Amino acid sequence: MLWFERPFLSVLHREYSAAMRFTEDDVARSPPPAPSRPCQLYVHVPFCEVLCPFCSFHRVRYREDRTARYFDALRGEIRLYHEAGFRFSDVYVGGGTPTVDSTQLLETIALVRSLSPVHTVSIETNPNHLEPAVLQQYRAAGVTRMSVGVQSFDDGLLRGMERLEKYGNGEQIRARLAAAHGIFPTLNVDMIFNLPGQTLAMLERDLDWLRELDVDQVSFYPLMTAPTARHKMAKTMGQNDPALRHRMYELILDHLLPHYRASSAWCFSRGEGMFDEYIIDQDDYVGVGSGAFSYVGGAMYSTTFSLNHYCRIVEGGHTGVTNRRVLGARERMRYDFLVRLFGGELRYDYIAERYGRAFWLKLAPELAVMRMIGATRHDADAIRLTRRGLYCWVLMMAEFFNSVNAVREQMRDHIRAELDAWNEEATVPVSSIARRPQELRS
Ligand SMILES: C[S@@+](CC[C@H](N)C(=O)[O-])C[C@H]1O[C@@H](n2cnc3c(N)ncnc32)[C@H](O)[C@@H]1O
Ligand code: SF4
Repeated sequence: MLWFERPFLSVLHREYSAAMRFTEDDVARSPPPAPSRPCQLYVHVPFCEVLCPFCSFHRVRYREDRTARYFDALRGEIRLYHEAGFRFSDVYVGGGTPTVDSTQLLETIALVRSLSPVHTVSIETNPNHLEPAVLQQYRAAGVTRMSVGVQSFDDGLLRGMERLEKYGNGEQIRARLAAAHGIFPTLNVDMIFNLPGQTLAMLERDLDWLRELDVDQVSFYPLMTAPTARHKMAKTMGQNDPALRHRMYELILDHLLPHYRASSAWCFSRGEGMFDEYIIDQDDYVGVGSGAFSYVGGAMYSTTFSLNHYCRIVEGGHTGVTNRRVLGARERMRYDFLVRLFGGELRYDYIAERYGRAFWLKLAPELAVMRMIGATRHDADAIRLTRRGLYCWVLMMAEFFNSVNAVREQMRDHIRAELDAWNEEATVPVSSIARRPQELRS
């Protein structure tokens, strides 16, 4: 652990928690004024076959009988933004597990692509859905990046995460990934480090497997823990050891940096220009679906977390937005500072064009602290992260997402009865992880 890690984290916690206070806002239900340039579209599909104990995303158990209505509402909301003048250049479909219903997902992608020219389409999935015939359909539909949640290849850890049975053991997952190789311009694998019970040796074995599989992109997240998930996670997975986090991250850098470029502090890409989920190139992004966030014109928006309410309000001709938070000038600068440097650099010409001298005055304390702890260096053309800075930004982004997760939990607490009823009524469909990749190829 770095000497400043604890106080650093507690300051971040205080600051980000204060920044994430949304207010309920009925005015927000019609789309905000559309930006002049095309922006990114995030589509949230909250269905999962198994609810992993560590996960704080907005997700419910998959229900076949409810999926069509939800996807209809999603497409309705996308059309609404399009009618309001929004154009989308890049699409990210996340979850949950968007691939639980491939027919609905393909129809939704086709709709977005029919509305405006789209450069990249990225979707998230789990290893049990990696069936080459279906993957070919996604590719033909314009999907450029497939992101697969693996977390670890260690069977003991997968069991603790309650993923072993449904999503497969390490060997099955590796076979699935090998069969998916080469279908998409980018095959990304999501991994987690600093899991309860994970040792440096286990992590090193995961890194060796990744090297062997030679995937295009690896995203390695530190375990992030929201308050409620922490309790559930401790019961099934045990406690993790934060003292190992820095050593684990250094091990990841040692193994991946010789072969990959850090496209962000936790995403490692083979090629130039590969899409990274957490790097927002466009200033604005619109989130559709229940429990999605947007950032448009300097304000953050969140949609309702109630799936029933979401379908009803979109069917009534409104967006799903129920909460808004308008950011002040300094808050926008801080957000930009966080997100741009997470991607590696913050250029002076960008700062001058967007904020002028005010940026240096208003963010003087943050800039000085980051320089003092050796996280940033000020080059001739840009501020850049040092190797230590990469780790500091992992901590900062993790804390930022912890505060987002706390908002998710609060919103979900308001509708706990609805979510519990939904999950109790769900029947889990049989998945095909037991089939061998040879069978899948035929
Ligand atoms: C939200 S999931 C959605 C895609 C898919 N359902 C899956 O499990 O991969 C995307 C990724 O988020 C990451 N994730 C989820 N919860 C996390 C947590 N508490 N800490 C760190 N990463 C997490 C996992 O790596 C996961 O693969
Ligand atoms: S990690 Fe993925 S599969 Fe597991 S609950 Fe979260 S979204 Fe669903």
